[in-house]
Amino acid sequence: METEKKTIILIGDSSSKRAVFFRKAAQDLGVRLHMVEWESLREDFDLQQFQGAAVKIDPPSYLTVHFTQMQEQLKAYRRNLRYLAQADCQFLNTPEMICQMLHKRETNQRLKEQGIAVTEMFCEQIETVSQLEEMLREKHCYSVFIKPECFSGAAGVAAFRMHPLSGKRKLYTSCRFENGQLVNTKKLVCMENKIEICALLDQLLSLGCVVERWHPKADYHGKSYDLRVVFQFGHIAAIVARQSNGPITNLHLNNQALDVKELDLNESVMEQIALVCKRSYEVCTAYQSEATAFGVSSMTGIDLLLEKGTMRPRVIEINGQGDLIYQDIYRENRIYQEQVRFLAGSSVS
Ligand SMILES: Nc1ncnc2c1ncn2[C@@H]1O[C@H](COP(=O)(O)OP(=O)(O)OP(=O)(O)O)[C@@H](O)[C@H]1O
Ligand SMILES: [Mg+2]
Repeated sequence: METEKKTIILIGDSSSKRAVFFRKAAQDLGVRLHMVEWESLREDFDLQQFQGAAVKIDPPSYLTVHFTQMQEQLKAYRRNLRYLAQADCQFLNTPEMICQMLHKRETNQRLKEQGIAVTEMFCEQIETVSQLEEMLREKHCYSVFIKPECFSGAAGVAAFRMHPLSGKRKLYTSCRFENGQLVNTKKLVCMENKIEICALLDQLLSLGCVVERWHPKADYHGKSYDLRVVFQFGHIAAIVARQSNGPITNLHLNNQALDVKELDLNESVMEQIALVCKRSYEVCTAYQSEATAFGVSSMTGIDLLLEKGTMRPRVIEINGQGDLIYQDIYRENRIYQEQVRFLAGSSVS
């Protein structure tokens, strides 16, 4: 007997690639989809409309490049997520889970507590360059990543290296100063001027950043890479390698996506990747408050690096909305189809 398909609600931005291809997946499977624009979701929005529905939350599209505005928008986003959490519906990823996973420190800590290999994040709260440099000397660790705690899309991510003896410094980042303000760009630059580096880092650190050891990444044909794994409903749905000439591999920074098969990773490395992802997914799904009502299922976008030499996987971070994979949407669109099937109910084939 056919059970009735649920209506799916997608909260997002209807002109985004995410929305276009999620809608396509629903259409191809004959499932009704109702779109709710982020813009219409204010605190007076009637959550009754969500009652009993299956809801997916996409991130809002940020138009600003100014970090202070991005911070404001992030605050508003978190407020909206908290409001959405009151809705009586089934979420793909709950607003609470998405909110929690915006925090790089907390996620890193949780994974580490469960014995999962993660990038080494320092517990110190670093707010100035002098604190940073003091810490690097104390730890004898002179190459680090500095990342705003809750931003995404490589915004504000910086790779910093300081020579312990000569004091020479290098900073790789795609953010820069413009009229006294920090702005995000899509171009990675390498800075070498100490005064400029310190001025930029002081601003960046004042936003609230995490500092991590810079782990050298495995390379392929002379370029380093990391992996984005979409792990959903208990299995790997896609893996993409992101290859770069620089230390930051995010794809919108002119980096190249690569089919993981081309890397020709051996079986044992692939097994380790699968295991680390499975365990990370389990830790993240424990965030889901409705886990018992709807089964432990959700989607995670896991960034991981393979350590140069040992090829040991380490989780860099996990995104609660990291499911946009161009290689998938432009081909079979399997990731979104699978989500539609899950949300609409098992009768959809
Ligand atoms: N500790 C580290 N060691 C080496 N490389 C790192 C480290 N942390 C981050 N990176 C590199 O920087 C990139 C961006 O870092 P991260 O994923 O934490 O930022 P993000 O802004 O949240 O990115 P997105 O939201 O697009 O996934 C990673 O994909 C990786 O290439
Ligand atoms: Mg990332």
